[in-house]
Amino acid sequence: MQLFSVKELLSTTPNSQEVTVRGWVKTFRSNRFIALNDGSTINNVQCVVDFENFDENTIKSISTGAAVEVSGTLVESQGRGQSVEIQVNELKIHGMADPETYPIQPKKHSLEFLREKAHLRVRTNTFSAVMRVRSALAFAIHSYFQQNGFYYMHAPIITGSDAEGAGEMFRVTALDAKNPPLNDEGDVDYKKDFFGKETNLTVSGQLEAEAYAMGLGKVYTFGPTFRAENSNTSRHLAEFWMIEPEMAFYDLDANMDLVEDFIKWVLRYVLENCPDDLTFLEQRLLDEEKTKPQAERSEMSLSEKLRFVIDNNFKRVTYTEAFEILRNSKPNKKRKFEYSIDEWGADLQSEHERFLVEKHFKCPVILFDYPAKIKAFYMRLNEDEETVRAMDVLFPGIGEIVGGSQREERLEVLQQKMAALDIPEEELWWYLELRRFGTAVHSGFGLGFERLVQFVTGMGNIRDVIPFPRTPQNAEF
Ligand code: 4AD
Ligand code: MG
Repeated sequence: MQLFSVKELLSTTPNSQEVTVRGWVKTFRSNRFIALNDGSTINNVQCVVDFENFDENTIKSISTGAAVEVSGTLVESQGRGQSVEIQVNELKIHGMADPETYPIQPKKHSLEFLREKAHLRVRTNTFSAVMRVRSALAFAIHSYFQQNGFYYMHAPIITGSDAEGAGEMFRVTALDAKNPPLNDEGDVDYKKDFFGKETNLTVSGQLEAEAYAMGLGKVYTFGPTFRAENSNTSRHLAEFWMIEPEMAFYDLDANMDLVEDFIKWVLRYVLENCPDDLTFLEQRLLDEEKTKPQAERSEMSLSEKLRFVIDNNFKRVTYTEAFEILRNSKPNKKRKFEYSIDEWGADLQSEHERFLVEKHFKCPVILFDYPAKIKAFYMRLNEDEETVRAMDVLFPGIGEIVGGSQREERLEVLQQKMAALDIPEEELWWYLELRRFGTAVHSGFGLGFERLVQFVTGMGNIRDVIPFPRTPQNAEF
């Protein structure tokens, strides 16, 4: 007897062939119809059980969540909504799921409830769809770079340098927390720690990727990154995955061209390769939108939003232009923004980013040439000495999805920048050497993977697009 996935069965022409399939019971109706799902697709295969052929205990063991193996003949379905069904001859119960205690019942559960059941939530339609799309997106990202001459580079997860100078890092230590060795000043003596220095989980693989780009030409990282910021928002995780391409000889314009082409390619890939999951997620979003007040509802469906990004040019706007638009905007004048925009140089908050994207330009926006003061030390200083060659890509519903820049390739300028920010040269001596030996114009960016998954799946909360989210006060699983 041949083993099939549900996905395979649903695209097989039935002619009473013998098939076997394994999965979890979604529903069991009338002691006769099992809707079986194995995760291969959002769709279930219907298995028809003639209860007279099975003992009572077996029939009793079939309930939502049970793991079963079904063998039978594949025939054209008598019922509506499916092409094939299995007339069950053999039934093996791998594991029962007590209906009294199994939490994932065939009814609507709130996303909040399911977050508490993160080990079981992938058995729901919503989470299985999201996670299949997530997987497809990861594959698409690798495909894009591999087809375009980039090498996949694994940046270290434990790092001795703080790339963003943000200081919001998770310390990695092997010292005894209760009784750490102290130095003469009475501080913890990290010289005695595992690495002989202070180390942290990385916030970004960028600096290491720069080193590799200056030898391999075009590289990308795709790995976990960690931030200990106490941001309890729907767009922040303490552990998230980031894609960071880095390209030698690319200036900011080339960087902007790349990010736009890359995102569009990846979106096209999922539209073509995940139709069933996207159809489901689109309906889910429509249902969710119906519960919101009219004014807050999105004008576009999920697939329309994806198409819209693919079909339109990203609007490229300097910070200074955006600042003027925001300063003169209605919500700013009416003091509707939480952070009002009065002085050039102000950092933009997500309310401003979303105003620009959703209300003003109504398309994805690439903001560039930001004030040097609000951006990281490694970004290339412009002639005006006030702005740097930074770029952020802003998306509807999400805000910032990408942050990147042309890097400062001039040794003296970089040294001055670091001195001004009190970043000791000894800490980044190797980064400075990249400017001493064969330096060149180069650029890169970082795409927050979960924010992309949010955009594609229409999920409102970033906790619902990663298997086991890490957020403040939450690392249960
Ligand atoms: O803008 P960020 O901080 O940029 C960097 O880390 C650069 N080193 C990237 C580079 O140029 N190679 O982060 C990049 C992106 C953001 O635009 C956002 O999408 C995502 O990473 N991101 C987060 N996603 C989830 N949770 C968080 N706490 C995030 N912080 C940033
Ligand atoms: Mg950023």
